[in-house]
Amino acid sequence: MLSVVQALNARLQAALERAFPEASAQARAADSPLDLQLGPASKPEFGDFQANGALGLARPLGQPPRRIAEAIVAALATDPAFNALCQPAAIAGPGFINLTLKPELLAAQVRERLGDPRLGVEPATIPSGDSPGPVIVDFSSPNIAKEMHVGHLRSTIIGDCLARVLEFRGHRVLRLNHVGDWGTQFGMLITHLKQVAPEALNTADAVDLGDLVAFYREAKQRFDSDEVFQSSSREEVVKLQGGDPISLKAWGLLCDQSRREFQKIYDRLNIQLSERGESFYNPRLQAVVADLDKSGLLVSDDGARCVFLEGVTGKEGKPMPLIVQKSDGGFNYATTDLAAIRYRLGPDGDGAGRVIYVTDAGQASHFAAVFQVAERAGWRPAAVSLEHVPFGLVQGADGKKLKTRAGDTVRLRDLLDEAVERAEADLRRRLQEEERTETESFIQEVATTVGLGAVKYADLSTNRITNYQFSFDRMLALQGNTAPYLLYAVVRIQGIARKGGDLVAFPDQLLFNEPQEWALVRQLLQFDAVIAEVEADLLPNRLCNYLFELSQIFNRFYDQVPVLKAEEPARSSRLALCRLSADTLRLGLGLLGIPSLERM
Ligand code: ARG
Repeated sequence: MLSVVQALNARLQAALERAFPEASAQARAADSPLDLQLGPASKPEFGDFQANGALGLARPLGQPPRRIAEAIVAALATDPAFNALCQPAAIAGPGFINLTLKPELLAAQVRERLGDPRLGVEPATIPSGDSPGPVIVDFSSPNIAKEMHVGHLRSTIIGDCLARVLEFRGHRVLRLNHVGDWGTQFGMLITHLKQVAPEALNTADAVDLGDLVAFYREAKQRFDSDEVFQSSSREEVVKLQGGDPISLKAWGLLCDQSRREFQKIYDRLNIQLSERGESFYNPRLQAVVADLDKSGLLVSDDGARCVFLEGVTGKEGKPMPLIVQKSDGGFNYATTDLAAIRYRLGPDGDGAGRVIYVTDAGQASHFAAVFQVAERAGWRPAAVSLEHVPFGLVQGADGKKLKTRAGDTVRLRDLLDEAVERAEADLRRRLQEEERTETESFIQEVATTVGLGAVKYADLSTNRITNYQFSFDRMLALQGNTAPYLLYAVVRIQGIARKGGDLVAFPDQLLFNEPQEWALVRQLLQFDAVIAEVEADLLPNRLCNYLFELSQIFNRFYDQVPVLKAEEPARSSRLALCRLSADTLRLGLGLLGIPSLERM
């Protein structure tokens, strides 16, 4: 209904101009046009929308707010375009204007969405001219030779959902996996493997990721305690960075090993990603330093080269440096991210229009720093935004960092397996209670969809900024704000079709009477506004909450108002609401990365 909101805003603006022509003209000339502040009604009894701007206009217009509201309502009353949208406007309290859309208009909006694959969501208006740059979503981004952990899982799930929403809106999206595949850790890993498992360095598949992680841990321990090992590791890094073929081959094999494991998780979760790891920027690091030097930002500090950050002070109020080249000449995480920004925004690179980074909140100061330096270096075109999308920690039921019972870090593979196993056990129990027999392939499909969907939904439905408590019991519950509850609402509607309800053909005019019907109509028509909000604020929980409310409102409607047993024309109008509810839930779940089921 965003187009209705736009039309309504235009009518309010026109009324304002007619009621207060001089003041409107003056305000426009001063570049701050008067605004009636149209927003959703705070309570259903106030109608659909509320315009509260009369209060703020009392001073500039020199009149009591109620008089202003009266003048605007009078102007609206004689505007045919307004009268086509709304019932007569009403004034409440000191000067609030309450607006109620015409029932015919709402019914027509519902009718328009039946069979529309976009469900009223307009494609994004992409500026014409030169082909617009892509939106980059940098997400997942695990590190080679380390296990992907729950933090990466959060990034993967949230990043994928944001990418889906942006793609649905019609943006070209580059889903980039900025894997940690470069740096000093490879020096120590290769040095260690040369001694303990040389086959891993020249034979594919000689070790699996679990072993690699263990080797990495050992290597790190040696690095921290053994000076000889330390210096051979450093030499090894130099060789690798210098392009030594043997080192490069070993590095390539180690990366492949990890990559294959990561890919298994992506395949299971149906996640598309293009890998462009840290190593990609290796040849572009020197240019970052040179460029920063040229723009006068680079300072030498104790042999290291850095940029002093504005507005960020450390101990004793001293400005904090962002180190871009260490005193030994090496580069770091920040240098790589600076090179990545330069490449992503630059005309010779991606020429992106928006770059979104999905990582844990712990990296907020890192991104604030690199964004600032990129800004001051003049790398960011005015219309382009760099956005860090932070998220909180994943905690166990005890509120502490998620661990296995033995106290180890949880492996993602095990976590997903357990979700599916539990979903399967729940399903088998339910089938037994209901004395249903189903095929094994049905059971597997439902258990997989419910289990993996529950993991995704639990993550997406909490405000990402807060820490999130991982609980299989909660996420798999059939009641509450969970994936199973939403999936079940879709299944319920499919059942209506199986019981003979026509969910395909509809009359041209729909008629609604009951409050439960209107509540559902109004909720269904909010979908486009919710998508626009997610696109702007990058908060998937907004979409989850919307879908949860929709399911609740649908269930209330379906429990309290007869559908299949109703007389025409109510019957087909109500079936239309069922159909649009199912389509909206399916599309919404799809944007969360969760496929729907016919039966469960
Ligand atoms: N590899 C990093 C980590 O595991 C995440 C990278 C995020 N993306 C970026 N451009 N820095 O924490």
